Amino acid sequence: VFSALPSEVAADVEAKFAEAGFTVVSEASAHRMDADVPLMIPEINPGHLKLLETQKKKRGWKGAIATTPNCTATGLSMVLKPLIDDFGARKAIVTTMQALSGAGFPGVPSLSIQENVIPYIKNEEEKVATEAKKILGAYANGTIRPSPLTMGISCNRVAVIDGHTETLYAEFPGEIDPKVAERSLARFRGAPQRLRLPTAPEQPIIIRSENDRPQPRLDRMAGSVPGMSVVVGRVRNGMDERSLMLTLLSHNTIRGAAGTAILTAELMEREGYLEN
Ligand SMILES: NC(=O)c1ccc[n+]([C@@H]2O[C@H](COP(=O)([O-])OP(=O)(O)OC[C@H]3O[C@@H](n4cnc5c(N)ncnc54)[C@H](OP(=O)(O)O)[C@@H]3O)[C@@H](O)[C@H]2O)c1
Repeated sequence: VFSALPSEVAADVEAKFAEAGFTVVSEASAHRMDADVPLMIPEINPGHLKLLETQKKKRGWKGAIATTPNCTATGLSMVLKPLIDDFGARKAIVTTMQALSGAGFPGVPSLSIQENVIPYIKNEEEKVATEAKKILGAYANGTIRPSPLTMGISCNRVAVIDGHTETLYAEFPGEIDPKVAERSLARFRGAPQRLRLPTAPEQPIIIRSENDRPQPRLDRMAGSVPGMSVVVGRVRNGMDERSLMLTLLSHNTIRGAAGTAILTAELMEREGYLEN
């Protein structure tokens, strides 16, 4: 069962479905931070699906709940994963420019957002940081140890329909060459690519070398599975050679919601989690 319910409704309804024996893949935030619920980006943390065994045992459910992250945390975590694994990124400062469709329907009143930027999205900054640390965390003995990365996030709503743009400043223990970082991002692959899952993009992170990319209108559908790749540009050193700055773009309703839910279900099917 795919759930895209408002969180207040999802909390109870999704638990009832799982209790009744259904496997739920949810886009809602209600259960994302439950200790026994996996928060999935299949390229990053396929091993977190093991939490489903703990969950079923602990709750006595025949079914289970897996969740997918907040749309802003999704693109950000995908870019942080190779930066942590290859270069030991330990601090990230992020500013977002988030699309209107991220607020659902009917969303932000048109008179509030036209010719405007709104520098606050309720509960969003807390969600992005805590969810990213869980996604990037390590699984051991039925629990997730959150990533030690420290993060500062500023979330803004802008007059774009689809596609969240984020600027990232990251710090590393040693010097980092932006060209080497670009190659690491472009090479990043995960379980969905190895398993050739139907919804897996060939290249999860696409690099643009032009100074004025990525742009939501031009790049949100880039790649072999439209809307499933994160597009990165403007990769450069920050304050010194131990820091990096870049701009990333991710489709909030595809990679940031429904697309990752479908990819998660494909991974669960392939790994035998849908067999009863
Ligand atoms: N939009 C994004 O970019 C995004 C990204 C990641 C996660 N999410 C999460 O995904 C979920 C859906 O987001 P959205 O943007 O699609 O929101 P939305 O536009 O408000 O849609 C919510 C949907 O839930 C239905 N619904 C509400 N109460 C219900 C109930 N009691 N029983 C059955 N259906 C009910 C609504 O049906 P009616 O239209 O008939 O009222 C509507 O179709 C939310 O939890 C959101 O936080 C959204």
